[in-house]
Formats: sequence, C-alpha cells, structure tokens
Amino acid sequence: MKYIIGNWKMNMTAGEIVEFTRGVKKYKIPKNSPVQFGLAVPYVYLLGMAKLQGHVLIGAQNVSEHNNGAFTGEISAEMLADVGLDFCIVGHSERRTLFGETNEMINEKIKKLQEYQVLPLLCIGETEEEFTAGKTKEVLHEQLTKCLANINKEQEIIVAYEPVWAIGTGKTASIEIIKETTAFIKQELQSILGKLGTAVLYGGSVNPQNAPAILHCEGVDGALIGGASLDADKYMQIASTLF
Ligand code: PGA
Repeated sequence: MKYIIGNWKMNMTAGEIVEFTRGVKKYKIPKNSPVQFGLAVPYVYLLGMAKLQGHVLIGAQNVSEHNNGAFTGEISAEMLADVGLDFCIVGHSERRTLFGETNEMINEKIKKLQEYQVLPLLCIGETEEEFTAGKTKEVLHEQLTKCLANINKEQEIIVAYEPVWAIGTGKTASIEIIKETTAFIKQELQSILGKLGTAVLYGGSVNPQNAPAILHCEGVDGALIGGASLDADKYMQIASTLF
C-alpha cells in the first residue's frame, strides 16, 4: 500500500472543496487499488470532510503540545480525536521555521496524539544550506532521535522526508538522493523504534510529471503533496501513477 496524502496548508474555501470533491469523483479507483488517500485540511473544514472518511484519511496540519486550557487559538489532540480524525501532520518545516517549533515541542505533540490514538505524520528534512554542507544525515538523525524520544513504540507513526529546499520550489531531490535518504531513515527508525515497517513518504514539489519515478522509487511508501493537492486532477493523476 502507498499513501497519497495532500497537505492543503492554509488554502481552499468551502466552495473550492466542493469543486475538488467533484473533480476527484471523475476518476475511477480500481477495487484493489494499492493507494491509501489522505488529506490534511485546515481545522475549520475538518468536520465537513468527515463525509469522505472511509475512502480518505482525514487529518489536521498541527496540534497543540498541551492538554487543554488557557491556550487561545490552539487545538488539542483530544479535540482532534473527538471529531474522529485519522491523522495529524507534525513538524512540518513551515511550522518549524515560521512558528519556531523545536524538535522537543514536536516530540510532545506526537506523545499527545498517541495518547488519543491519532496517527502522527512526522515531517523531517534538511535545509538547502545543510544539504550543500553534506549534513543531511546528521540533521535527520537529530530530528528523528529528538522527535521520537520516549514515544509509544507499539503505535504506528508515518514519517515524511521533505527536503526544505524542495518544498514549494519546483525543485525535487533526485531519485538517487530519495532512495538513499529513505533507506537511511528506515535504518534510523528501526534502531529508534526497534521494528521495521514504518512508512516513509517523500514530499517536496511532487507533481504528475515527477510522481511516477518518485512513487516507484525503492523504499518510498507514498507522497506528501502540497501545491499539487489543491487541484483534483493533479492529485488524482499523481495517485493514478499507482493504478
Ligand atoms: P509542495 O509541498 O508539494 O507544494 O512542495 C509539500 C509539503 O509542504 O508538504
């Protein structure tokens, strides 16, 4: 099975979501399709998206590291579980760079999600500077070790490798880099979690043109798609690479 997960970020209106859903329905998804669809949508649309659940995993893009209480503007893991959400993205590079999220905060968020049985989708990735300096593995090792410290190893998580320099830039990592880095992440996950089988997705400027090579790259268990997931045709063309 491969994940095709859209990250809508701070985009879409209710009208555009209706259009998106209509657009998606034009595509025939084979019965035994190996694709698990998912969409991470803005909080205000989470309840409305529940209609798609069953076929599509519905998720949030962030969660508070606190339980509940006087945290104006925040949403707790308990609330996400209460409205029946399947998963939640944590540690996206935009949250890290624009909102100052640290690996330690991300670790707390993962623990809260696990407490309420919401599947965490952890994003990791190096900046362009770190990539050029040959520090990718060092950075990923630190992110994985800190973000996954003392989590419940029995519960499933998903990891997305998203080189920061590839997000929203139109640049993608080469297939060689994706293959090598995914293998490295899987090794790290095995040593941290003591088990194999954690799904590792690739994210960063995935589009219908580059999707076939990325999704068939050894070790890649799917894609986390930003910009292209706002367009039903592009989203489905990426997925149909797999059927
Ligand atoms: P992009 O975003 O596909 O627009 O590069 C990916 C992401 O931020 O998850």
